[in-house]
Amino acid sequence: MNQSTMKWCVIGAGGIADRRTIPALLTDPKNDLVAVMDKSPVAAKATGEKYGVPYFTDEREMLEAINADAVYVSTPVFCHYDQAMLALSFGKHVFLEKPVCIDGKKSRELLEAFKAAGKQLSIGYMMKYHSLHEKAKALIAEGGIGTVNSVRAQFTCWYPDIAGAWRQNKALGGGGAIMDLGVHCLELIEDILGEPIAEAKAFYSTRTFSYEVEDGAVIVLRTKSGILGHVDCNFNIPDKASESKLELYGSEGYIICRGTLAQEDGGVLSHLYCPQGDYEAAQNRTTDKPVEYTGDSSNNMYRRQLAAFAEIVKSGKPDYTLAERAVRVQELVDEIYQNN
Ligand SMILES: NC(=O)c1ccc[n+]([C@@H]2O[C@H](COP(=O)([O-])OP(=O)(O)OC[C@H]3O[C@@H](n4cnc5c(N)ncnc54)[C@H](O)[C@@H]3O)[C@@H](O)[C@H]2O)c1
Repeated sequence: MNQSTMKWCVIGAGGIADRRTIPALLTDPKNDLVAVMDKSPVAAKATGEKYGVPYFTDEREMLEAINADAVYVSTPVFCHYDQAMLALSFGKHVFLEKPVCIDGKKSRELLEAFKAAGKQLSIGYMMKYHSLHEKAKALIAEGGIGTVNSVRAQFTCWYPDIAGAWRQNKALGGGGAIMDLGVHCLELIEDILGEPIAEAKAFYSTRTFSYEVEDGAVIVLRTKSGILGHVDCNFNIPDKASESKLELYGSEGYIICRGTLAQEDGGVLSHLYCPQGDYEAAQNRTTDKPVEYTGDSSNNMYRRQLAAFAEIVKSGKPDYTLAERAVRVQELVDEIYQNN
């Protein structure tokens, strides 16, 4: 591989790839987009022409014709395993969109195949690169809220019935709001707390729409050290009513991130440090003002996650730490669905 640039091709170029990832990739001169592929001839042509690269409607044909270092796979979840394995069979490093695969077993198999081949596999959980999530992590590390005891995340969107939508079909998407939104929260919680989630269970239902997957869920969780938490993920709350929050409460204060579970950096982090000492029977509430930090709109999370991947590839030493976490999240999701 040329040490200065990374040649990328894309499988599934029409959705988030075109909206976020390819534009982010092209902001870095160390990346070179060399081809795109989409099963839809319209999307393949549109993205190929937009970015001025050859385009294909068959992934094998593209991989045979094009010399690339890495493949970005951004297709519906049911395609992930076969397409990432195909790219691996061509000796490529793969940046795969979240969630890893349709279930934990396939996700684990995929990771083991990449390990055996010594090729990098990274998963598109970009929210840990949000400036305020990084700030939250740093504050916790320096004891800014004492011992973390409780975590809550809320991530929602409005996702009504759409004929033929793969996310609304269990066999194609693997699940609903948990599989699409909840996984982001579980991965982010593990990242910020720096420890694995040991157990997760959920209540979920489909009550607003008529598709077969859940349109809302509450996940409850316990981490390895005993931090308790819950995640609300909904497809049935209007976008304008979305709070998009991450809250962390500890023995000495809180960190509340508002508007940060999103595709763009922004929102506000409120930090209150208020160690208490003695028990107060009256339980008078503090009126202390938290310190506030605002998100960094110049920080592109998609660019950052690709840069992290490129660094690993260039180092010549695959690092599966984050892929392991992403696979563990899929295994938790399996447990959630199986135990309901
Ligand atoms: N990290 C994020 O912010 C984020 C956001 C949205 C989606 N995603 C993930 O990205 C992936 C794609 O989601 P999306 O929202 O872009 O979906 P989408 O349906 O909007 O787009 C998927 C694209 O893949 C194409 N496609 C479908 N089947 C294909 C196949 N067999 N081979 C090649 N191309 C095929 C479609 O024509 C379409 O252009 C999913 O895994 C999703 O969870 C991540």
